[in-house]
Amino acid sequence: MLIDTHTHIFDDKFENKEEIIRNALNNNVKEMIVVGYDKESSIKALELVKKYDFLYLSIGLHPSEVLKENDEDLSWMHEILKSEKVVAIGEIGLDYYWDKSFKEEQKKYFKKQIEIAKEYNLPIIVHCRDAVQDCFDILKDESVEGVMHCYSGSLEMAKEFVKRGYYLGVGGVVTFKNAVEIKKIAKEIELTHILSETDCPYLAPTPYRGKRNEPAYVKYVVEEIAKIRGESIDDVEGCLEANAKKLFRL
Ligand code: NI
Repeated sequence: MLIDTHTHIFDDKFENKEEIIRNALNNNVKEMIVVGYDKESSIKALELVKKYDFLYLSIGLHPSEVLKENDEDLSWMHEILKSEKVVAIGEIGLDYYWDKSFKEEQKKYFKKQIEIAKEYNLPIIVHCRDAVQDCFDILKDESVEGVMHCYSGSLEMAKEFVKRGYYLGVGGVVTFKNAVEIKKIAKEIELTHILSETDCPYLAPTPYRGKRNEPAYVKYVVEEIAKIRGESIDDVEGCLEANAKKLFRL
């Protein structure tokens, strides 16, 4: 089976969520992790995952959202964490692509949420954009498991994350012709450290590039990884399934 380890299917861009979920199941995507990025989206995601056995939840405060947070203790997270549906903390991390002006606030909430993950013994889903070195510096000495979601750093840094036990999330970008670095990573990193994801509705793979993404399309990601590595789709699919189940204890 295929697993989409990073979806935002609570998003308003999905008008008919039931149809999106049915389409995923019909394409062999049998489990999905629905990921929040602030209080409101995490609550929306919780309401959705409650309705289906095969949907799991990750909650967190995204680095681009930290300035609007007015609850220093993130007590809303502790509230949602009472649900058994929560399998990870995320997406959390650092994003200097959109705005570098509040790096310290981003770091503060990143560290705070790593502590929450440790407290609840959960893995983290890390969003890291144009901030690989700072992310690495924070994570390198932490005793927490997790995935570098939609990894966009170098192969060299990827190896450093893998050395410390982290997984690398590979999504639709790997199917783009010009995505040289992530193709290299998909080829060279041990398959046991890769997770399949869509980040839908964003980053649709070829042949849907530029359109709205959905969990069913994770198959294009897995097919591309298999092609790049010269391995069978079945073998790659089986390994990526096992990886997701192991990290998130699905
Ligand atoms: Ni995301």
